[in-house]
Amino acid sequence: MSSKLIAPSVLAADFANLQRDIEMVNSSDADWFHIDIMDGVFVPNISFGMPVLEAIAKHAKKTIDVHLMIVDPDRYIKTFAELGANNLTVHYEACTHLHRTLQAIKAEGMKAGVALNPHTNINVLEDTINDIDLVCIMSVNPGFGGQSFIENTYSKVKQLKDLIIRKGANTKIEIDGGVTSKNAKALIDAGADVLVAGSFVFRNDDPIFTIANLKEIAND
Ligand code: DX5
Ligand code: ZN
Repeated sequence: MSSKLIAPSVLAADFANLQRDIEMVNSSDADWFHIDIMDGVFVPNISFGMPVLEAIAKHAKKTIDVHLMIVDPDRYIKTFAELGANNLTVHYEACTHLHRTLQAIKAEGMKAGVALNPHTNINVLEDTINDIDLVCIMSVNPGFGGQSFIENTYSKVKQLKDLIIRKGANTKIEIDGGVTSKNAKALIDAGADVLVAGSFVFRNDDPIFTIANLKEIAND
C-alpha cells in the first residue's frame, strides 16, 4: 500500500512569519503544502491570492496542493500553473463544465482535483472519476479553518473508495477540515490517502511533532 500523506494547510500559518512556517513544513514529515484560495463569493471569506502564493512557492520544497474555493475557476487555471501549483483542485459546485475544467488543468501539467462540499453526494462523480487525480472531501463547510469535523464524512469516504475501486480509477482521497490525531486513523481506515490539517498543526506548540505524529498514525 502506498504511503499516506499529510498536507498542512497554510491558511492556519502565521502570515507575519510565513517564511518561518514554510521552512518548518519543509523540514517536517509533511508531504504537501495545502493552499486555500478563497474569493469571498464561493465562500464567505477571502484568504489570499497570487502574490502570496508566489512568495510561498519561492520557499516551498514540497508538492503545492492548491484548493480553489472560487467561482468560475477556469479563469485562473493557467495562472496557478505558472505560480507553481502541482495539484489544482476546483469545487464541483463551482463548475458548470467539470469535465472540460479537468482536462484544462491536466493540459497545464497539473494533477486535477475536485472538492465536494459536505452536502454534495459522492455519486455526482460517477461519470468523471476516471479523469480525477484527487477528490477532496470537505469535512467542514469551506471558508474557515478551525471548524469541527462533520461525522458524516466517514461514510462519504467509504462510498468514494467503493466508486474508485468499482471504476478502476487511480484517484487519491483527500480529507479537508477538522482533521486531528483523534479522527486520522478512522479516516485512513475508511479509505483516505491525504489528510489536510490546518489549526491542528499550526496552533500547536510543537508543529513538527504534530505532523510526525499524524504521519505515523496515518501509516500505522
Ligand atoms: C477550509 C479549508 C481548509 C482549512 C482546514 O475552507 O479548505 O483547508 O484550512 O483547516 P482546519 O484543519 O483548521 O480545519
Ligand atoms: Zn482546503
